[in-house]
Amino acid sequence: MVPDLFPRLLSSVHAVAARESTLLTTHTGHHRGPAGLHQLLDRLAPLLDGRTAEPSVLARVPEHGRLLVIRSLDYLERCGALRREVTARPEGIPDQLLAVADLVGDAPYARCAALLAAKATAHAPSEWLPLLDTSLRQLSVQTALSTATGVQVRIGTAEVALPPEADWLVEPVGEAERAVAAAAIAAEAVARFLGRPTRPLPSARALPGLDRCGPATSADAPLLASWPTREQLRALLLDPTSLLPASEQKFERPAAIRPLKACGGLRVPAWLHALLRCVHVPLRWELGDLAHFGGWAHRGLASARGLYPVELYLATNTGAWYIEPGELRLIPVSVPAPAALGSRFTLVLTVRETKVSHRYHQYATWLCLQEAGLALAALDDAAQAAGITADEVAELGERGRSGPWGELLDLGPDERPVGRITLGPPQRALDPSAFARHLARVRQRRSGHRVFNALGADRAGLLGSLPAALAATLDDRLRSFLIVHRPCLDAAASCWKPGGYQITRQGPVLLRAGGEVTEQLQRGQDAMGWLAPDYLSASATVIVAAPVAEVTACLQQLHEITAAAAQIAHRALLGAASAGAAGRIHNSLRTDVLATVTGNEQLAPLFQLIIGHPGPDGTITVDVAEAAFNDAKLTTSMGDTRC
Ligand SMILES: Cc1cc2nc3c(=O)[nH]c(=O)nc-3n(C[C@H](O)[C@H](O)[C@H](O)COP(=O)(O)O)c2cc1C
Repeated sequence: MVPDLFPRLLSSVHAVAARESTLLTTHTGHHRGPAGLHQLLDRLAPLLDGRTAEPSVLARVPEHGRLLVIRSLDYLERCGALRREVTARPEGIPDQLLAVADLVGDAPYARCAALLAAKATAHAPSEWLPLLDTSLRQLSVQTALSTATGVQVRIGTAEVALPPEADWLVEPVGEAERAVAAAAIAAEAVARFLGRPTRPLPSARALPGLDRCGPATSADAPLLASWPTREQLRALLLDPTSLLPASEQKFERPAAIRPLKACGGLRVPAWLHALLRCVHVPLRWELGDLAHFGGWAHRGLASARGLYPVELYLATNTGAWYIEPGELRLIPVSVPAPAALGSRFTLVLTVRETKVSHRYHQYATWLCLQEAGLALAALDDAAQAAGITADEVAELGERGRSGPWGELLDLGPDERPVGRITLGPPQRALDPSAFARHLARVRQRRSGHRVFNALGADRAGLLGSLPAALAATLDDRLRSFLIVHRPCLDAAASCWKPGGYQITRQGPVLLRAGGEVTEQLQRGQDAMGWLAPDYLSASATVIVAAPVAEVTACLQQLHEITAAAAQIAHRALLGAASAGAAGRIHNSLRTDVLATVTGNEQLAPLFQLIIGHPGPDGTITVDVAEAAFNDAKLTTSMGDTRC
């Protein structure tokens, strides 16, 4: 067999057409190439997938274009996006399997690689199956993998196996994680079959905590039976893992999400439009294998997995409208609304637990309370920046058409009110520059990737106005803590030494100096497996907590206290953004760990925010300008062509 040259795009490479250039993300960082590169990559997809050899592609390119193609390939190779390899191709291996073989090990993070491998193998077309052994076949037909038998993949003479006693499978991980393990093993088996050197499998600790193979949003999500009981409330707060499903299940389909109209609907007034932009409009667009299928539309407030379960309605003295996210059109609901909007504007917030990822099961309730609080806080802050009086209330209503709001707003069976905010229209026209400053800060806020970058970040962590935001938003019902993991600077150039601080009315009180607090946090949370954040490489962690007895007294009380905590959390995230730092809300803080770190055994954690500089994650993010969103045709992803 004559060896041929097969260039391959490495995993997690994305090319996005920007206005006058092509943005390229690879494991070596972000690169800006010529505008034509994007188009060329599209045309060369079969070559970059390893399906067609370089000489045979060049033979089809007109003579005068060959140099350009070769230069582009050289450029991609220099950026670390491409590997050219002389490969004697074995007979009868489907192209997709060749691509899978490259996935493990080449991505920036092993967990990312395992994720990509899982995606490729779990979605394997049926003709792959005879090539893989029974374990992989089981995986592909979605049969539960048994922990008792381990996982074994054999292709020809190459065999890779994880014995049942391996750490991987005795970890308390779910089906999705075992599927990822099996997929990573399958990828390694293919690689060995192709004669590549043996590579170590990613460790169990490196497993991603995300399942990209199930439905990304709510289509198959459960309709939760009821709000939790008091005992469940305690479990929700005190043992975050207790309510996560042990395995993925099939659930009834929820009611259809309120259909969006193709056109028509009243436009909201300009002042309200400005305010809603901070909350209900995509401000950034993220592509890549760690983003959801079809990209990730980030709004101005954090949302668990970016699924945004909070819906907004506008009620005035003349009628009520559903506010379509993004377009911000007003769709009249049950009461026929006249053309005029009236006055006395009230925004009503509802949540759909079914919009939260189906993996969270009962835990969706807690996420919805947190998200309702964040949405109220974000609206309140935007109103303040716009000089609009705002009066907000966190209150829980019944699900569906029961209760006054339910009837007026014609709520779906899975939807219930969580609060409202009454707005006074501005007395004067908005001050565009003051409001623009707020919007710019909101745009800057981002959660970043869950893997922080200890090596790439500055030596001192940057906290921006986060400490000031914590000090300015004190609430007697709450306790706020700042755990500083490494020396940090704030916006006032004050130096924060490592240690644990409680934020009080008298200023920050040092609870314990040094790195021990961080280590305790890391060690304590590591016991949870893949749910643990990476504190040691982040700059600081903010914890907002409240006495257990108070937050678990009844759901309404938990809701109100959570909303107060969310105000601190939202402002702290914006404060971190002012310094260019990412702030990621991480649920899953255990109460015993919180007790060790704060010395207070009576506290339930309400929010945990990790502040730091994230490492590259194989996704690319583009700011969405208002005009661009309306007639969007923003981006194309190259990363997926190979799986
Ligand atoms: C209530 C809530 C809980 C969250 N919990 C986690 C978590 O446990 N782990 C995590 O990695 N991210 C968590 N996030 C962060 C979201 O995944 C993140 O906000 C989302 O990806 C959107 O990204 P953005 O904030 O950059 O727009 C949480 C966010 C919210 C609002």
